[in-house]
Amino acid sequence: MILSASGAHHYEMPLSLRSFTSLKRALLSSSSPSLLLRGSSLVPTMAASSTTTVSSTDAGAQLNQSAPSSPPVQVAKRLEKFKTTIFTQMSSLAIKHNAINLGQGFPNFDGPDFVKDAAIEAIKAGKNQYARGYGVPDLNSAIASRFQKDTSLVVDPEKEVTVTSGCTEAIAATILGLVNPGDEVVLFAPFYDSYEAVLSMAGANIKCITLRPPDFAVPLEELKSVVSANTKAIMINTPHNPTGKMFTWEELEFIAKLCKENDVLVFTDEVYDKLSFEMEHISMASLPGMFNRTVTLNSLGKTFSLTGWKIGWAVAPPQLTWGVRQAHSFLTFATSTPMQFAAATALQTSDSYYEELKRDYLAKKAILVEGLEAVGFVVYPSSGTYFVVVDHTPFGFENDVAFCEHLIEEVGVVAIPTSVFYLNPEEGKNLVRFTFCKDEATLRGAVERMKQKLRKR
Ligand SMILES: Cc1ncc(COP(=O)(O)O)c(C=O)c1O
Repeated sequence: MILSASGAHHYEMPLSLRSFTSLKRALLSSSSPSLLLRGSSLVPTMAASSTTTVSSTDAGAQLNQSAPSSPPVQVAKRLEKFKTTIFTQMSSLAIKHNAINLGQGFPNFDGPDFVKDAAIEAIKAGKNQYARGYGVPDLNSAIASRFQKDTSLVVDPEKEVTVTSGCTEAIAATILGLVNPGDEVVLFAPFYDSYEAVLSMAGANIKCITLRPPDFAVPLEELKSVVSANTKAIMINTPHNPTGKMFTWEELEFIAKLCKENDVLVFTDEVYDKLSFEMEHISMASLPGMFNRTVTLNSLGKTFSLTGWKIGWAVAPPQLTWGVRQAHSFLTFATSTPMQFAAATALQTSDSYYEELKRDYLAKKAILVEGLEAVGFVVYPSSGTYFVVVDHTPFGFENDVAFCEHLIEEVGVVAIPTSVFYLNPEEGKNLVRFTFCKDEATLRGAVERMKQKLRKR
């Protein structure tokens, strides 16, 4: 049964009626706009009612039937297959059930005072009007210096660095600025959800390669078989959300060779570069001959526990920066001025900040990983990020959504079903993602709840 109105490569995951009705019930009494379960996902409706039913043929018409007095939701074709993001859905459910939220990846502790103070000072100093479109000079320079420190590459802050509103906008500006309708772009599933949505907005043709447990290694020959002269770009993410996989030197070298042979670009999302635990992070741009065909995307949020600030950037050679900036100019034009000054202060911090950050996160990771193992999950090794992926099947649920629903309602803990990170949700149905970007008491509390209440079915 395919429930998307367009039907385009949208696979439906079977959900039990119980899962559907109870999750719908929970959502209908949660925040506005109300949410309706459609297939394996939840979609916003203007006025969902308790009599709403799911049809396999025409979801749009059915929304009209269930809410005769409200206009149906409208969305352009390029976005109609995308639902309310799973992170929003799970966070609202967490509030509703007073559950401990190990779902969405935002810290429940604050960023460092020296960065917050810098923002306050910038505001008080009157740095409050539109910034230069591609970034305030101080921040462009700080990004260039950090990039040089991390990769040994010297970049021109004026011509090769673009400041954006979070990495999310850097991703959008890169894809919309450099990819033409019909261009092929290779993604590795599971993938961060904005990649597929922006590629859809750009009219790109997605070629998807699945990374599989236990190590989520790149299937090199399969990758080789999809890359051709028609490929515009390969999108990578290392350290990788949701799996915690880090691309190895051998994998990056293999990708680099394919890119050079076929004249392909690389868009590399490295927002978790400072959260690399089990191995050294390697930037694709630092591989021989790759800087000229690579856009490196990053942001402040994860490293400085300030995810709400949304300061990001793209580093790329001038010819690629041109396209990124053209899109950025018409997406947001410029990013919050005082926060850019504070971000410049943040990036100039000493290495000891990053060392302490890693130490803290290693302790948190140990609590969560040991706890999840003790509860009975199969926990897959995570080398970086603040996520771990586990196999929930020892508990006997039919899929990741049903498991996460039970976990929220009956156990009081939120995790993210990973099927939302795949083109074909079936591939993620055994896996769920937990985050450890929470204080230690919260992590221990969540583990305790699972130990007490999570039972095999
Ligand atoms: C892999 C990945 N890329 C990009 C982002 C978005 O970053 P930002 O908050 O800076 O827009 C996230 C946030 O969770 C992420 O996990």
